[in-house]
Amino acid sequence: MWAAVAAVAALIAGAYALLQNTLFKRARCASNADMTGKTAIITGGNTGIGKATALELARRGARVILACRNKQRAEAAVHDIRRDSGSSAVVFMQLDLASLQSVRSFAETFLKTEPRLDLLINNAGLVADGRTEDGFGIEFGVNHLGHFLLTCLLLPRLKEGGASRVVTLSSLAHIWGRIDFDNLNSKRDLGTGKYSWQFFSAYCNSKLCNVLFTHELAKRLQGTNVTCYCVHPGVVRTELSRNCSLWQKVFIKPISKLFFLDAEEGAQTTLHCALQESIEPLSGRYFSCCAVQEVGAKARDDAVAKKLWEVSERLTGLA
Ligand SMILES: NC(=O)c1ccc[n+]([C@@H]2O[C@H](COP(=O)([O-])OP(=O)(O)OC[C@H]3O[C@@H](n4cnc5c(N)ncnc54)[C@H](OP(=O)(O)O)[C@@H]3O)[C@@H](O)[C@H]2O)c1
Ligand SMILES: *[C@@H]1O[C@H](CO)[C@@H](O)[C@H](O)[C@H]1NC(C)=O
Ligand SMILES: *[C@@H]1O[C@H](CO)[C@@H](O)[C@H](O)[C@H]1NC(C)=O
Repeated sequence: MWAAVAAVAALIAGAYALLQNTLFKRARCASNADMTGKTAIITGGNTGIGKATALELARRGARVILACRNKQRAEAAVHDIRRDSGSSAVVFMQLDLASLQSVRSFAETFLKTEPRLDLLINNAGLVADGRTEDGFGIEFGVNHLGHFLLTCLLLPRLKEGGASRVVTLSSLAHIWGRIDFDNLNSKRDLGTGKYSWQFFSAYCNSKLCNVLFTHELAKRLQGTNVTCYCVHPGVVRTELSRNCSLWQKVFIKPISKLFFLDAEEGAQTTLHCALQESIEPLSGRYFSCCAVQEVGAKARDDAVAKKLWEVSERLTGLA
């Protein structure tokens, strides 16, 4: 009897240790880079990983622009970040990634009022059901397409800088993603269906877009001083599951308390890609735990990445 109890306890301890060293592994950004005089945009910087990233960049002296959809939530975050960093160079600018018009007017205002851009962090994201203002599936529209347009519109300003970077939040979930161009053509979405597993699958597809976007962007940036990276931040306790069903929340809550990284830990790989010196030769690559990682064949498929870029240009009216 006691032997069995001991064996089970050992098994649980072993499983816990294994998970802590794999799925829930922690790493820290080791760079001491100073950001004084530099400007960073962080989409969705009002909560979660984005807010923790913004705080650290503000502490390092950057001018930080929180590009958020909700004025009230964003201004509350500006207040917190100013207080906790001691920096007053933290500002809110309205951006709703679920509206291409909003992306355009954000870029226009930014280019008119801000003389430089050193860091663009495409952080905002959601797991939810619904459509964007332009009729795209909301995850494809916000997680990929809005960020695609934003990046393209800001590239001229990024290129003017010395060594600017674009960091895009993807996810390990990209490994379950697929890009079905026929579906995208006919339904303006990469996934369909109302069930939560279906919009989780649409989430995975959008996160695969983030990896392929970064892969193609790096090629297009060759010969410039701009580099780009994509990130799996770890499994992090944030508001990302706010639109999940009740039973999923009941399931996620206790596990998240036990295992998940907090937002500050979840910001470390983004910070690594934003700050670490000499990673420029790794432009286009995928990072987690503050280190570059290999991705599967479909996440570095040149032809699909190129096609996704061209389709995205068409869908956003850039081409
Ligand atoms: N948490 C994880 O375990 C995990 C794992 C892998 C990848 N990620 C990625 O990490 C990134 C950050 O997520 P998080 O976990 O920090 O989630 P979060 O706490 O839910 O924060 C997401 C942010 O995105 C913003 N956002 C959503 N829709 C937007 C829109 N239409 N326009 C502008 N901003 C919008 C939200 O703004 P509101 O507050 O106004 O809604 C919020 O600021 C996401 O790209 C996510 O896919 C997270
Ligand atoms: C890149 O930066 C270096 C050093 O600041 C500069 O000399 C060079 O002209 C830049 N190249 C481009 C293409 O802007
Ligand atoms: C997700 O949940 C939030 C907060 O509960 C809500 O405001 C939002 O409308 C929901 N749906 C989407 C698509 O964001």
